[in-house]
This record gives sequence, structure tokens and C-alpha cells, in this order.
Amino acid sequence: MPIRPESANTQAIARAAELLRAGQLVAFPTETVYGLGADATDDRAVAAIFAAKRRPQFNPLICHLPDAASAGALVAFDRRAGRLAERFGPGALSLVLPRLADCPVSRLASAGLDSLAVRVPAHPVALELLAAVGRPVAAPSANRSGRVSPTRANHVAEDLGGEVAMILDAGRCEIGLESTVVGLLGGDAVLLRPGGVPAEAIEAEIGRLAQPSDGPVQSPGMLPSHYAPALPLRLDARSAAPGEVLVGFGPDAPAGPNLSPTGELTEAAANLFALLHDLDRPEFSAIAVMAVPDRGLGRAINDRLRRAAASRA
Ligand code: TXA
Ligand code: MG
Repeated sequence: MPIRPESANTQAIARAAELLRAGQLVAFPTETVYGLGADATDDRAVAAIFAAKRRPQFNPLICHLPDAASAGALVAFDRRAGRLAERFGPGALSLVLPRLADCPVSRLASAGLDSLAVRVPAHPVALELLAAVGRPVAAPSANRSGRVSPTRANHVAEDLGGEVAMILDAGRCEIGLESTVVGLLGGDAVLLRPGGVPAEAIEAEIGRLAQPSDGPVQSPGMLPSHYAPALPLRLDARSAAPGEVLVGFGPDAPAGPNLSPTGELTEAAANLFALLHDLDRPEFSAIAVMAVPDRGLGRAINDRLRRAAASRA
């Protein structure tokens, strides 16, 4: 049974926070669009976001925090990031920054990248919820893949009402357009997605923004668009060749690292990037990955594996 949105009063917000802390999905309002939230430090909860959205790819997700200080515990703010946070935060601006070494956020939320998008939303319900959760909340727009972003709680109920534990309703979103996403990874600042804060206003603070499409010569610091391990990746492996480490899938795999010993795709998604990251060590010659069924979240897993393998080919 699809659930109905609940008015976002203090009790409902407290319950939503409990659900998030227990690893459930909760849709909540922000000033841009409604978000589909999960505990960003919980690999399985983050994997459940992708399952609910039926996204065929793992796009990196934005982490929502109640204040800039909490964001500063996850990612490295440089001077430009500090200026933008001061001028436009809380608000419709997400900053993509380097993950700190001890960043507790799921690698799946970063889609395996060494960067993380952080945002402090300006909506009072979102802020109260985030403060109550006390953990970063990963949240893409609360729509099925391929549908438009929801700006009212009933949009979420129609699209994802069967997939979430709760929908907090605070009426319509004031901005109705997603946040502006700016990458600050050492080189030029890059406009990754235009959104609620105009690019011109950002350029007035920190100077010209590069476009991701700024020609074949990419400036240093431009983002790799997807995860790529240092080691070669061999797909559809049945066993490890000498020097390789095998990543199994399912109960029939040889003993050793396994994406999901029970053959469960949500668990495999939850483990994917953390496992590859841990095995990406010079003592191995390559990472051999067993076949993962190409259905449901398996399609997103295979998409990422193919891209990671191709980037080394
Ligand atoms: O307004 C918004 O931003 C809403 C509300 C809920 O906060 N969220 C949202 O999330 O629109 P989503 O997942 O639909 O879009 C996130 C965007 C994507 O374009 C993604 O590629 C980019 O942010 N992004 C996130 N993390 C990134 C990273 N580490 N590197 C590059 N791009 C990143
Ligand atoms: Mg979206």
C-alpha cells in the first residue's frame, strides 16, 4: 500500500529522524525539491535509494547537513568553498569537495569517487530533521529515474509512495528547481549543474566557473566522471588468474571477498565501491569480478563495473 504524506509537525519530524537512523528511506521537503533521504553512513540504506529510484546508474548523491560545521567534518573546505558557504548557505547550493580521509559517508553515496557533494538546505523542516538525525543524510530528488523532480508531497506519494517509510509534507517547495552544483577539487571551480543559485552570483564571489563541457582540454582538477581503480578490472571472471584477486557474487563463488554471499543485489550495491576500494592494492595485478545478474540494481552495478574497466583499457 502506498503511504500518504504526513504533515511535518514536531512529532512527525522526530519519527522521521528515528526511521532514518534505523536505515529506512524518508522523503522530506527542502526549499528546492523534495529529497529521498537515507542515512549516508549506512551502505545498505544508500543502496536502497538507488533501488527505489530504479536508476540504471549510480550517480553520486548530495549529502545534507544541518550546518557548515557538520559538512566540514566530511570534506575539505578550501577558501573558495568557505566563501560560497558563507555567502549562499544555507541554500540551494551544493559543493563537491574532496572527502576527508576519515569521512564516514558510504562510498556508494560518492559513487566511488574521492569527492562528496554537501549541502545545507534552507528549509526549516529539513534543518530540524537533519539536526535530529545527527548524521549526514544522502538525498537525491524524490522521483523515479526519468521523471521530473517533485515539488509537492503528493508528487512523491504518486511516484515513490510504495518505496518509502514516510513522506514529510510541508507544502510546495519555494524554489522548485534543484540546487546549483559546483565542483571545487583543486583546479578551476566547475559548474556541474545549474540550479537555484544563479551561476553569475557564484562567479561574483569566486570568479569564472568552468563548464564540464569546456572543450577537450580539461583544466586540472576537472572531475573524473566515474570511479576508476588503479588496478585493471577484469569482468565476468569465473576464477582468479595468478596475481589477481577475485570478487565473488553469490553462494557458489569461491571463498574470499564477495559482493553478496547470498546473491542479493541491494547488498552487492552496498558493498561494491567499498570492496573495490579496499582491494585496489599494488600487491594484486588485477581485480577479477564475477558476473552480476543484469537486472534491478545489478544493471547499475554492471554499468559502473564496465565504466571502471573501460577507463583502464
Ligand atoms: O536540490 C537538490 O540538489 C536536491 C535536493 C533533494 O537537495 N537533490 C538533488 O539530488 O537534486 P540529485 O541526486 O537528483 O542530483 C545530484 C547532482 C547530480 O547531478 C550529481 O551528478 C551531482 O549532483 N553530484 C553529486 N555528487 C557529486 C560528485 N561527487 N561529483 C560530481 N557530481 C556530483
Ligand atoms: Mg534528480
